[in-house]
Amino acid sequence: MKPMVFGGKNGEHLAIELASMKGFDLGSVEVKKFPDGETYIRILDEVQGRDVIYINSLQRDPNEAVVETLYTLDTLRDLGARRVVAVIPYMSYARQDSRFNPGEAVSIQILAKLFKTIKVDQIITVDMHLHRISDPSSLFGANFHNITGVRELGKYLKRNYDLTRSDTVVIGPDEEAEQWARVMAEELGGLEFSFLEKKRLTAEKVVIEAKGVNVEGKNVVIVDDIISTGGTIIEAVKALRSLGARDFYVATVHPLLVGDALARLLRLGLKELVGTNTVLSPISRVSITPAIAEALDRIF
Ligand code: R5P
Repeated sequence: MKPMVFGGKNGEHLAIELASMKGFDLGSVEVKKFPDGETYIRILDEVQGRDVIYINSLQRDPNEAVVETLYTLDTLRDLGARRVVAVIPYMSYARQDSRFNPGEAVSIQILAKLFKTIKVDQIITVDMHLHRISDPSSLFGANFHNITGVRELGKYLKRNYDLTRSDTVVIGPDEEAEQWARVMAEELGGLEFSFLEKKRLTAEKVVIEAKGVNVEGKNVVIVDDIISTGGTIIEAVKALRSLGARDFYVATVHPLLVGDALARLLRLGLKELVGTNTVLSPISRVSITPAIAEALDRIF
């Protein structure tokens, strides 16, 4: 029997797309609130003996999304699904991956423990923020797959712009983003790539230095995993402009765009600002579904 795909509140758009792309059955899950604020979950299809895929991003209201996701996955298992695959396009709490100050919760470790307790068969996520964690399967278990959305962003830029080796450089706004800059550069036909030096002062404020990058008179493609407050991109653009960079094409996998981030970014006069639909936003013009479908092909 073909797999059945369910979408949570932040994953329904992807579940619908995946079901139609792969010819899977689309299941329904009812999510509502009890009067006291507790979450109510009900699976509305028969899942006994079936392979099921559940998609939900842990964003917008991350705590709500975590409860919704864990309760739904456990219920699917409890109702006798044969294999349960969790697709978590945006994994929240990944930036709290260390005890930065005494007494802090290492949130991503706790979240991973909760996922492990439910014993889903496979977990697929997209460009999970891995700053200090080198191997996420050490937290989540061996059945954890961290796929990238950068190739889909690269294909979009390639389709829409003529970015050539002689006049374009790909930049990651911090050291960790070098990995995405490399993939983007490859996808755009072997462009040069580099990264900047970033120091985070607070959750909203960063300082960026562009040492040793040659962008004078060139187009710059900036690629990062997350745009949250927009501070990183704004500072990166400022630093690169001061070195004479020409036009900017900014691509991100997870466009969280909190508060007035979008308005502040639009004021930069970028040629392009694009994100994937791991989280829905006004710039989510690139679908992550083909990358998820590929990962599922490998699993099933
Ligand atoms: C952090 O290192 C990430 O890769 C992003 O650069 C960061 O989350 C972006 O956040 P913001 O938009 O608030 O600067």
